[in-house]
Amino acid sequence: MTDNDTIDLAVGTLASDSVRVVLEGQAASGAYVASPTFSQYGFSWLRDGSFIALAMDAVGERGSAARFHRWVCEAVWGVRDRVDEIVARIATGRGVEPDRMLPTRYALDGTVEAAGDEAWPNFQLDGYGTWLFALEKHTAGRLDNHEAEVADLAARYLEATWSLPCFDYWEEFGDRRHTSTLAAVAAGLGAAGRMLRSDRYTAAAARVLREIESTCVADGAFVKGPADRRVDASLLSLATPFDLVPVDDARMVATVDRVRAELVTPTGGVRRYVGDSYYGGSPWLLLTAWFGWHARRCGRPDEALAARRWVEARAGELGRLAEQDVSEPQDPATVAEWERRWGPVADPLLWSHAMYLLLVAEDRA
Ligand code: BGC
Repeated sequence: MTDNDTIDLAVGTLASDSVRVVLEGQAASGAYVASPTFSQYGFSWLRDGSFIALAMDAVGERGSAARFHRWVCEAVWGVRDRVDEIVARIATGRGVEPDRMLPTRYALDGTVEAAGDEAWPNFQLDGYGTWLFALEKHTAGRLDNHEAEVADLAARYLEATWSLPCFDYWEEFGDRRHTSTLAAVAAGLGAAGRMLRSDRYTAAAARVLREIESTCVADGAFVKGPADRRVDASLLSLATPFDLVPVDDARMVATVDRVRAELVTPTGGVRRYVGDSYYGGSPWLLLTAWFGWHARRCGRPDEALAARRWVEARAGELGRLAEQDVSEPQDPATVAEWERRWGPVADPLLWSHAMYLLLVAEDRA
């Protein structure tokens, strides 16, 4: 992706609007806000931000991605003492309280948010893995000294913590382990191994991948986690973009078949998983774009186009993409419940725009 020149995004198209929404949502510090308007999302998540940086690189907005990566380096450098403490405690068999782990999101100025009344389920490992993966794409593996120090810090953290239960991609089920989290960790450790020329991190990445292959497959398909046989749309990440398995790997094909059968809605949107109750467990725009991105990489342009059109049809008049389309919920009662609690669903969501851009960029590849 780093080799892409600026791609010409015609003004007034959803692609150019998406770049605008992302740039407007990038703070002066370099952080990408998850959503500039949603009550709970005024922070920068490493998960969302790393995909956004991948998208900005893919459409030639390299300066924006560079500012984000610099910001991550400062934010993570700011918690370096915690990493030392966590790694030391784990190495000597002492436990670490989940709230001492590194946060999944930071304030836009790069500081760790103060613990509020309703503490965020902050112990999530995938963002650090996805960040290392995106950093390698951005730099083509050539790091300056500070980037190398911070990449090493993140990799040391993942190497020590990867096997612990933590909250998942969707910030749920904090007492379990999750395939998509392990996938991001394996991808990140693999990237660290190459960028830092570290056999240790390369070996750790291989261990995590072996764990996925031996504990996260049921009936020939990848499943949500060792203790959860449901399919989750974030499993697409195993192949797209992490390339931990080829797109035509039989287990991956079976996983996508399950996504198609169980998570694609009558209109063609993609849900997170069956039983999801966040804003009705409705189809997510970013997942539908992701499904299209993956379909494109598998050589199924018709399926990719249908996904693209589905997302485009949901862009508001201002060219904005929300998190979910709540008009097609699994559980309508929970839409109203969440609206009462936190207000209307996040709109715009920068991550939705990013996944749309990754699909558009793949279409042009
Ligand atoms: C999602 C996360 C996401 C966060 C910010 C949460 O509701 O479950 O995956 O990182 O919102 O967009």
